[in-house]
Amino acid sequence: MTTATAVAHPNIALVKYWGKADAHLALPATGSVSMGLDVFPTTTTVTLTDAPADTLVLNGAAVDDGPLVRVTEFLDLVRELAGSRVRADVVSENTVPTGAGLASSASGFAALATAAAAAYGLDLSERDLSRLARRGSGSATRSIPGGVSVWHAGDDAGSFAETVPAPPMAMVVVTIDAGPKPIGSREAMRRTIATSPFYPAWVTSTTETVTDMLTACAAGDFTRIGELTESNALRMHATIEGAFPPIRYLTARSVAVFDAVAELRAAGLRAYATADAGPNVVVLTTPEDRAAVATALAGHGDVIESGTGPGARLVRSEGPEAPAPGVDRPEETAE
Ligand code: DP6
Repeated sequence: MTTATAVAHPNIALVKYWGKADAHLALPATGSVSMGLDVFPTTTTVTLTDAPADTLVLNGAAVDDGPLVRVTEFLDLVRELAGSRVRADVVSENTVPTGAGLASSASGFAALATAAAAAYGLDLSERDLSRLARRGSGSATRSIPGGVSVWHAGDDAGSFAETVPAPPMAMVVVTIDAGPKPIGSREAMRRTIATSPFYPAWVTSTTETVTDMLTACAAGDFTRIGELTESNALRMHATIEGAFPPIRYLTARSVAVFDAVAELRAAGLRAYATADAGPNVVVLTTPEDRAAVATALAGHGDVIESGTGPGARLVRSEGPEAPAPGVDRPEETAE
């Protein structure tokens, strides 16, 4: 039996990924930039098994529908890389409020990629692990490296994430609604590309914003980072709202948090708002101001503070000698 356990954290995009150039390879239409969180970890154990099918237990409950299909498809990619046909039991404890627009798939597939690669005996570089995680969920690419990271657009070999220099930052997550979102990001991206007249402008402007954001990060210019973050989030939501039929993730309560954040800025705090594919708002702030921002926003929902998080990591790996990458185990080679 070969088993491996990995931990990964979510990330929140400062420059968003919205739309794929190639759905099969999970190549994004633009680059994106994110900050990893140090809260809401996902811990995933992958154990190889003689059973005829993969299994998935998510937060203590056996899953036999959509998420299992997605996990099996992902493990098929790992098996292809490892030259293996052995199935796996996957047990995942996810502390992200699932489906609430906080990208639970990012930490989920980053942890799965890290644990599965180890269980199947693949010795992948951080770059190759992030390319692998990308095939599970786009945002998972950025949960492999730690800190602030850029996910490059490009071809299969060139579309990976890596840590970039950035000033010390923090986030305050304001959970307004922990329920499932009205439409998943994957389907919403497709509809946006197919029907939003604003989508081409989104691609052009986001490509420029990635460059501007990396410059601001390298310069340690928090104000510029914050301004670009809030602007890019609103541009994404405007583009999504332009789809037909329209998709609207931000609610009146989300908008109220954006207004409250503007008031905090006027009062001298360093705070900028962003939101993913859901109603919850995440506030980018500084380590000095995070407690004051959290206190000020407590009336808007559940408030959780986060510093900048670590990259995905293997915490346990056991079992017989794993095969070297690309080498078949004898019992797995017969077709
Ligand atoms: C709004 O990574 O969940 O959070 O690649 O289809 O799995 P798939 O999508 P996913 O989309 C995340 C979209 C976002 C923005 C971002 O994280 O950059």
